[in-house]
Order: sequence, then structure tokens, then C-alpha cells
Amino acid sequence: MDESVAGETGRLAFDTSVAHQARIYDYLLGGKDNYAADRAATEALRAVNPEIDSTVRANRAFLGRAVRYLAADAGIRQFLDIGTGIPTAGNTHEVAQAAAPESRVVYVDYDPVVLAHARALLVSGTEGATDYIDADLRDTGSILAGAAKLLDFSRPVAVTLISILHAIPDADDPHALVARLMDAVPPGSYLALSHAGSDLVSPQVQHGIEDVAGRMIRQQYASRSREQVERFFQGTDLVEPGLVRVEDWRPNPAAGDTARSSLWCAVGRKRQPNPASATA
Ligand SMILES: C[S@@+](CC[C@H](N)C(=O)[O-])C[C@H]1O[C@@H](n2cnc3c(N)ncnc32)[C@H](O)[C@@H]1O
Repeated sequence: MDESVAGETGRLAFDTSVAHQARIYDYLLGGKDNYAADRAATEALRAVNPEIDSTVRANRAFLGRAVRYLAADAGIRQFLDIGTGIPTAGNTHEVAQAAAPESRVVYVDYDPVVLAHARALLVSGTEGATDYIDADLRDTGSILAGAAKLLDFSRPVAVTLISILHAIPDADDPHALVARLMDAVPPGSYLALSHAGSDLVSPQVQHGIEDVAGRMIRQQYASRSREQVERFFQGTDLVEPGLVRVEDWRPNPAAGDTARSSLWCAVGRKRQPNPASATA
């Protein structure tokens, strides 16, 4: 089965002849878990989009600030982190447990290289816990069933989808996938995501990225407009500052990071259901 085809789900095959999103990201962050095809695709991406390095740096910094906000300010103690990536500095459980040691984090990814590193993600502080699920985002049923072994779905959960949804083409209805995940968590839960913005790059850069992705990268590339990204947050209230570029979401001036990105992001809190619509 070709796992990237719309409508089909499953773990990616281990294939070093073509670039994988997780390994490109690892290479851009200075990691060692990448192969010649990943490095070639990264160089091709750099040639068409010189902002790619600062974009991944800004994205990773956003992940840290968003998880810290959720644990330290919003009181969240349960995280479902889908599209985990190869472990690097500041993994979700490390950030969350630094603020709230009892935090529980379930990681999900479908890349066998990420699975091979899962042990690093399972080193939880003793007060909290972590788990790893080898699954495709498009298989929300397996993800929710697996996550329920560690997370209590009667209590708030933060669903984090950081830099993954642009690997899901429209044919797989990413908005319905996110809605299914958010339907499974109670009001007061959060959705945090970042997403490549089609309206944050020039048409020339956009075509360049699509061309490289189509020729050299395993996953499809579906960047989306601000309005399309905002639709993921239906049923939530966006926390300040709303939907912005990742570097503009509650920036930490002390970190001195001036990285510029082409990714939209936001964090939304799930609303109480409207009683009028429940009885209609
Ligand atoms: C760019 S990395 C982001 C890693 C991390 N969330 C971050 O922002 O630092 C995206 C990850 O999503 C994973 N991914 C892409 N499509 C997926 C899918 N359909 N199901 C599960 N994981 C997927 C890739 O394997 C990769 O590890």
C-alpha cells in the first residue's frame, strides 16, 4: 500500500531513497537522523525558499512557548502531540513537565525513524507519564483508543498538531480529522497548531516548494491560507494574540530570537456547547 495516498492510512515504509518530512526537519535542526535524499531535498528547498531555516527555528520555539503556556498558564496536564518528529531539544513532555511535573504526554507519529527514537520520548519524570503511538493522523480512531490508555478524556487535553497538517492533502479532509479529535475532548481542552501559510510566501516560492515536494519528498505538501487555517479552530476561542505567524505568538524578547517564518499558528480553547444548539 502507498501510505501517502489520500484515503489510505498506515505507517510510512522505511525508505531512504526519498526524503521524509521528519528527516528533513531533523537535518534543518542540526540532527543526525537523515540520509542523502533528505539532505538533497533540503538543499533544493533552501534554494527556492531561503526562509526555511528560520521558519523551522521559529516553529520549534513556538512549540516550546505554546506547551509552556498550556502547562503553566492554562493548567493543562494532558497532551496529545501528533506529528512528534525526531526527538530534539525541548520535546513536549520536557517542556510540560518542567512547568507541571505530573503532566502526561502521548506522542503520535507514523514515521519509522521517529518510532526508532521513541525510547527518548518515554523517559518521563516520575510524577508524570509518556506514551508513544505509531499511527497515522488520518486514523483518528486508533489514536484516540491508544491515547485513552494514558489520558483521561473526561478531563481537558491539549491536542498539539505542530507543523504536520500541511502534509495532509484536502482529499483527506484535514478539517474533519481535527474536528474528530476535538470532539473527543471536553470543553476547556485546547488545540495548538502551526501550518505552512500559502499566503505567507510569494507565488514563486510557493511553486518552488510544491515542485520540490512533488519530485523529492514522500509526503504531499498542502500549504493553506489564513482563512483555511482559522477554520481548524471552529468551536474554540483563540487565546491572545489569535492567529499569527509563529514568531509573533507570545514572543519572548529575552530569547533574542528574530527568526522569521512562513507558518501560521494559534492556540484555541474548546468552548462549552451552546445549549440552544443542543436542544435544537
Ligand atoms: C515537521 S515535523 C514536526 C515535528 C514537531 N511537531 C515540531 O513541530 O517540532 C512533522 C512530523 O509529522 C509527521 N507526520 C506527517 N504526516 C503524518 C501523518 N499523516 N500521521 C502521523 N504523523 C505524520 C512526520 O513524520 C514528522 O515527524
